[in-house]
Amino acid sequence: MTPPHPAGHCVINGQLLPLAEARISPLDLGFLRGIGVFETLRTYDGHPHALADHLQRLWQAARVFGVSELFSEREARAWIRALRQLCPDSELHINIIVTPGIVGEGVFGTSGPATWVLIARPLRPHPAAFYEQGLTVITHRVAAEEQRIFPTLKTTSYVSGFVPLARARAAAAHEALYVLPDGCLSEGVTSNVLLRRGDWVSTPPAHRCLPGITLSRLRPIAESLGLRWRSAELQLADLYSADEVWLSSSLREVLPVVRVDDRPIGDGRIGAWWPRLHAAYRQHCLESARAEAAAAGA
Ligand SMILES: Cc1ncc(COP(=O)(O)O)c(C=O)c1O
Repeated sequence: MTPPHPAGHCVINGQLLPLAEARISPLDLGFLRGIGVFETLRTYDGHPHALADHLQRLWQAARVFGVSELFSEREARAWIRALRQLCPDSELHINIIVTPGIVGEGVFGTSGPATWVLIARPLRPHPAAFYEQGLTVITHRVAAEEQRIFPTLKTTSYVSGFVPLARARAAAAHEALYVLPDGCLSEGVTSNVLLRRGDWVSTPPAHRCLPGITLSRLRPIAESLGLRWRSAELQLADLYSADEVWLSSSLREVLPVVRVDDRPIGDGRIGAWWPRLHAAYRQHCLESARAEAAAAGA
């Protein structure tokens, strides 16, 4: 029996289809060689948030394999509007994926245009417990050969996260944080990590992790609330002794972590700053998604 297909639609190279009818060639270099980059974002009030930032990061990463801008922000917005009309009652979880296209001559040659896919699925809200009780995470020490390749690019290769997340699941934890061979923290498998100690918020240096769009938006908000922000090499001792630990990503926004490797963070309850930061960030997303849409004439 065929398993039920996730609900949603996508646009593949300009053609809008139900996800269940979407087809990618097995000769696509994304499939054949694992060459691809992508973005994940969501809508607020039906409008994509930080779309321009996501597209900028996408095209910058796609340049690594010689692909430059395949569509404009205006076109992406129009596709998202069309996809939203098919799913009017829910916010959207959007992925945009780009690969070099179908293999041609040689190992990496292509025989046609690059492949792009824009996927829209109904956004599944996080469980209330995330906001009420906070999250548990684990750390995962990665061997040199297991490290994420191109850590500052959002490539489609998440193979280095497979074992850490399986370990997290087995421990009923939400996320696994990488501890690199030199003992420094980098990020979560699909999130950035932030530590608060006193009025300082610290995040690992930019060269170690994905330059999170959520992170970049959180910084001015945190500073406007009175927190100070720095990028710093962080080790397990910093993590375990933080007053608060937060995860950020476009889908998670910013979420509070209350246990790491079975140790409580602070008193093991959601800290004092997270509710303020989260509320201000949510407000920012709503306002900026509407303002970006209005500026684009959407
Ligand atoms: C490895 C990694 N780091 C960080 C993030 C957070 O990035 P953003 O805030 O741009 O969603 C993600 C998001 O998926 C990720 O996969």
